[in-house]
Amino acid sequence: MTDAVQTHSTPSDANAAFKPRVFSGIQPTNHLQLGNYLGAVKRFVDMQGSGIETLYCIVDLHAITVWQDPADLTRATRELAAGYLASGLDPAKSILFNQARVPEHTQLAWVFNCVARMGWLNRMTQFKDKAGKNRENASVGLFAYPNLMAADILTYHATKVPVGEDQKQHLELARDIAIKFNNDFGVDFFPVPDPIIEGVATRVMSLRDGSKKMSKSDPSDMSRINLTDDADTIAKKFRKAKTDPEPLAETVEGLAGRPEARNLVNIYAALGDSTAEAVIAEFGGRSFSEFKPKLADLAVAKLSPLSSEMSRLMQDPTEIDRVLEAGAERARTIAAPILKRTYDIVGIVT
Ligand code: TYM
Repeated sequence: MTDAVQTHSTPSDANAAFKPRVFSGIQPTNHLQLGNYLGAVKRFVDMQGSGIETLYCIVDLHAITVWQDPADLTRATRELAAGYLASGLDPAKSILFNQARVPEHTQLAWVFNCVARMGWLNRMTQFKDKAGKNRENASVGLFAYPNLMAADILTYHATKVPVGEDQKQHLELARDIAIKFNNDFGVDFFPVPDPIIEGVATRVMSLRDGSKKMSKSDPSDMSRINLTDDADTIAKKFRKAKTDPEPLAETVEGLAGRPEARNLVNIYAALGDSTAEAVIAEFGGRSFSEFKPKLADLAVAKLSPLSSEMSRLMQDPTEIDRVLEAGAERARTIAAPILKRTYDIVGIVT
């Protein structure tokens, strides 16, 4: 530790010296679900072309912190890449790649394993949820996962990280790691990345239980809309979505304490690029039997072009691999010098 430390009072102060850069990632596990699309991918697309450099990663090394069948992992990696492209991410505008192809992520993660404290990681709620009762049997990778996530972001000096609400705690840890590294070595080397958690769909809930988030790993396929679902399946899932017996509220405030109703309104708003207020203005007071088919129609209209484009792209895995490889090459040109400078700061001879 040294005294020559700058205190980072606010994130914007801390990042003023850094070029704004966006980084985010998604795990290639199972199929992309509506929560990932509305909470993450759609917002990645919005940030693309805003004049800020954008990097979007397929975090394959995070996926293997819990068991993945190798063939499924390969398929899911390409499918996620197809999902990125079909949703409008453009390799000419964003750097699209898979994590394992850029070894600087894991190299920096090792340095961060030595910066982060056990106590910090012990507080991570996602580890507790994923490890469940049998903590002793969880992989070491699952425990150290947030350090790799911090490295994903900081190996690019990224300043903005669009994510859903469930990643907030991991982002706080990434910030703590950046601050501790800077303090320990008396440098202002890493920015303190800001989570960007915005919009109506930061926490899309399960269609079966309004108190649980929609998730790729929920055992019930009826709890989520997959981007690969066909029109009939989407309509059926919304028809069967859990609701309460009341009609839709006349005001947004009237949705308080009605998580399932609130969730369907938010999904409608996010799919239509509108707001909960606008949805209530249109459907307030109507029954769910009227609202649900409209929601299903909107979802099919927005999602089926994506799923057909994904299937088309999946027919040419060589082209997908080419896009990811080219993206990784570009990513490395940013990551390698940052890792090199990190090693210099730490005193590692390279
Ligand atoms: P993952 O793969 O679980 O989810 C990917 C993104 O989707 C968002 N998301 C949701 N948003 C709204 N409602 C939901 N129901 C919902 N479910 C998922 C997540 O918040 C996330 O933004 N640890 C990350 C991946 C990661 C990462 C990173 C993200 C690894 N390194 C660096 C940002 C920066 C994860 O497991 O996301």
